Amino acid sequence: MQAPEFHDLAEYLASQEKKSLLRFLTCGSVDDGKSTLIGRLLYDSKLIFEDHLTALTKDSVKHGTTGEDIDLALLVDGLEAEREQGITIDVAYRFFATSARKFIVADTPGHEQYTRNMATGASNSELAVILIDARKGVLTQTRRHAFIVSLLGIRHVVLAINKIDLVDFSQEIFDTISAEFAEFAGKLKFESVVAIPISARYGDNVIAPSPRTPWYSGPSLIEHLETVDVETELSAGPFRMPVQWVNRPNLDFRGFAGTIVSGRVSPGDDIAVAKSGRISRVKQIATLDGDLPEAVAGQAVTLTLEDEIDISRGDVLVAPQARPEMADQFAAHLLWMADEELLPHRQYLLKIGTQTVPAQVTQLKHKVDVNTLDHFAARTLQLNEVGYGNFSTGEPIVFDPYADNRDMGSFVIIDRFTNGTVGAGMIEFGLRRATNVHWQALDVDVSSRAELKHQKPCVLWFTGLSGSGKSTVANLVEKRLFAQGRHTYILDGDNVRHGLNRDLGFTDADRVENIRRVAEAAKLFVDAGLIVLVSFISPFRSERRLARDLLKEGQFIEIFVDTPLEVCIARDPKGLYKRAQAGEIKNFTGIDSPYERPENPELVLKMETGSAEDMAERIVAYLREQGLVP
Ligand code: ADX
Repeated sequence: MQAPEFHDLAEYLASQEKKSLLRFLTCGSVDDGKSTLIGRLLYDSKLIFEDHLTALTKDSVKHGTTGEDIDLALLVDGLEAEREQGITIDVAYRFFATSARKFIVADTPGHEQYTRNMATGASNSELAVILIDARKGVLTQTRRHAFIVSLLGIRHVVLAINKIDLVDFSQEIFDTISAEFAEFAGKLKFESVVAIPISARYGDNVIAPSPRTPWYSGPSLIEHLETVDVETELSAGPFRMPVQWVNRPNLDFRGFAGTIVSGRVSPGDDIAVAKSGRISRVKQIATLDGDLPEAVAGQAVTLTLEDEIDISRGDVLVAPQARPEMADQFAAHLLWMADEELLPHRQYLLKIGTQTVPAQVTQLKHKVDVNTLDHFAARTLQLNEVGYGNFSTGEPIVFDPYADNRDMGSFVIIDRFTNGTVGAGMIEFGLRRATNVHWQALDVDVSSRAELKHQKPCVLWFTGLSGSGKSTVANLVEKRLFAQGRHTYILDGDNVRHGLNRDLGFTDADRVENIRRVAEAAKLFVDAGLIVLVSFISPFRSERRLARDLLKEGQFIEIFVDTPLEVCIARDPKGLYKRAQAGEIKNFTGIDSPYERPENPELVLKMETGSAEDMAERIVAYLREQGLVP
């Protein structure tokens, strides 16, 4: 690791340019010596500034746990302190170089609840260093790290068995731990697993082979990192470039900008637009530094084409002879990262590359126990859990299986209301829709049915707490409309739960499915030309939004029956609040299950401001104003 001498800066920089780059991830907790190890790598590769070093020597004497030695952990533990103050730096990237290679280390917190940070750090790493404390051996967390690392597509693992000095450099302990890990790792698809006995604190086998482990004949950690072959040859794969934006500075230039995620491209190559299937030929590869004769995976470029074809952000330019998959259903692994659980059938947004579409989990097949890799039945996923299931998207997406291409096969799940990232997924394969089911065009359609009835079909969606008065008002509205010769139908929670939805209870997941089915049923009744009155608690904004989105503009009228909880409890028409308060009924809305108030309902009814008849009249008047009834 002796740094070679360079005579001038240009020569030095040129030599740095040519070095290959290895990105790796460290997994383990501070107790395992992770910070000390990273500190040692940075320190011994002599990239620490002198003044920083001086400060460190002082600090170590003050706070250190290592006596007169420099406490290397202090170099990186600033991260921990920042986190305690709430200034979260979830993943810290650190750079260092040796004469053979450049390195980027993703340093991620090691506790169980930080799985998601690991996922972030791992997303572009080629290798993972999993740390073990030689005194403790393989722990749950070790298995967890190995599993997630494999799930995220990392194929090379170093098992750094640290604190070997504290077990008297025992070969027996080293052998036992590496054998136990090898057995577990055998179930995961790694290409290389190398166990190394180290002492991060004293440097044994970190940089140079240690005389204190004469029985170990393998490479030191840095030797291995310098030489391990992790070439994934992305540039050898088929050409893929998700279009980030369309660059059109003037009428003569129309370029498609993006980063090539696999393959290579040259002027004259044929390319296809994955979704539309349109084909053209590359005219020019433009960059800030002029045109290029060729561009490869990893480069950000702007392509111009021979033909004027329709391409926009979200499209993927691909090699016509090796196209990606396109589907609106697929099977994928999902790592859940939110405090709120994943609810199958709820609508989220899915972002893959530059495409963003509405999506839902249609079937959660299992979740994985990361300790044993066993599969468990699951109806939801909690924070940091890993599941596997089927997804469906609002429109087809373009992708490659994650195993073939990490950029084309990974996606994130975004909450539609908070815009926060709540999950990360890896696509296994596309699923085809049954091709023998087509939409049947019918001659008598919604407008002819509505015309015959002299009305415009719509949904009056009543939402509010149990006992708020939804059903009472809905019933009065229906009576009035009926008397005027209108064609109506009421879908009421208590009634629908006796039939169509009798298999559902009151967990969040079941309520999501309850409302999804009712929304679909209401849509069919609208198609039949009816004015549909839906009376369900429907406590979640997401599903009310879903119901709205199923219908056309103006067809969905959200009516919030805004009766305060205390009033509902006092009225307690079915005696259910009393039982819920006594703990006899679980998950009761308003008691131990949430109600999310509507933000922009078409109508708000405050029952204390008038009689139920008054409220019903207001609704009928609203329908008249909107031109829905004569
Ligand atoms: S929703 O939340 O899924 O929309 P829904 O409107 O179908 O609920 O059913 C609510 C009705 O079920 C209530 O009016 C009440 O009569 C009854 N019920 C029984 N258990 C519960 C519960 N745990 N929470 C709310 N309502 C309940």
